[in-house]
Amino acid sequence: MEQLQQIRSSFNSDLKEAQSLTDLEQLEVKFLGRKGPVQGAMKLLKEVSSAERPKVGKEINEIKQEIEQALQDKKASFESLELEEKLAGETIDTTLPGRRRFLGAEHLINKELDHAIDTLREMGFSVQYGPDIESSYYNFEALNFPPDHPAMDMQDTFYIDGKEVLLRTHTSNIQVRFMEGNTPPIRIIAPGKAYRNESISRRSHVFFHQVEALYVDKQVSFSDLMATLEDFFQRIFHEKVEVRFRPSYFPFVEPGMEVDIGCLVCSGEGCPICKHTGWLEVAGAGMVHPEVLKNGGIDPEEYSGYAWGMGIERLVMLKYGIQDIRTFTENDMRFLKQFA
Ligand code: DAH
Repeated sequence: MEQLQQIRSSFNSDLKEAQSLTDLEQLEVKFLGRKGPVQGAMKLLKEVSSAERPKVGKEINEIKQEIEQALQDKKASFESLELEEKLAGETIDTTLPGRRRFLGAEHLINKELDHAIDTLREMGFSVQYGPDIESSYYNFEALNFPPDHPAMDMQDTFYIDGKEVLLRTHTSNIQVRFMEGNTPPIRIIAPGKAYRNESISRRSHVFFHQVEALYVDKQVSFSDLMATLEDFFQRIFHEKVEVRFRPSYFPFVEPGMEVDIGCLVCSGEGCPICKHTGWLEVAGAGMVHPEVLKNGGIDPEEYSGYAWGMGIERLVMLKYGIQDIRTFTENDMRFLKQFA
């Protein structure tokens, strides 16, 4: 019995020293293995008197169970410690500020284009869309361009298929398309992209946005056109702007004109933006040419109309003092974010 007590106490002191799961495995082999003291004691059981054998046998069994239980408990405590450490490494500090999610925003050009569209809607125009890929007919011939007009040159126009299919050079392509399928009164605008085969610079690009307007009815007059344009520019710039009309030539209008507004930057004093003239050119306009009305199936004796077209990029550049048209399409976030 004394020897048995010995096993118990030496196990207990070894267990205190154990640091890891491997230590425990070694202890298990040492005390419960074939060559260990518990097995040794079993073997010695024969030598004990038969009267004492049950008592000693019982004691050996108890020690064996105690050791097994102690090893199991210790193992469980090591494992939970390990888990705790692992979890400690994975904790999340819920008080840290979150990462901001990137939010996209409307592009400045679209924002201003939408603003122009909304304004024109309020003024009674409805929105129509013509195709970007257009026939030479609707882009040129139907608009009264003579066959040798320089705009039709390969240098200025992107042709897709011979000289019949092209990328529209202006949103005026909507005019005859729409007149063909509709009867006056017609009061539409057509926003969209236009394409020109030009070298890219600060002031010009190979594609840009335009808004075209077309109004056809009985007795539409030149003063209707002027009043509408003045009203429109007041509305989009939210301030009193001077508007000036200069005679000019476009094949699809007669008379035709270019429309200037008083420089927004220097208020007419003269500055580099307006090239010291005090005026900025913003649109082309005129009374729809009788030939164009005829091409649209409308009788020019009975009806008249006006049309105008303006470039959005230019307008936006003036409004925000942007110096280079290329910045709109470079996708530089530092530029775009300023207007988000
Ligand atoms: N389409 C012309 C251009 O892109 C602009 C224009 C001028 C449109 C006169 C018109 C107009 O409707 O009457 O340069």
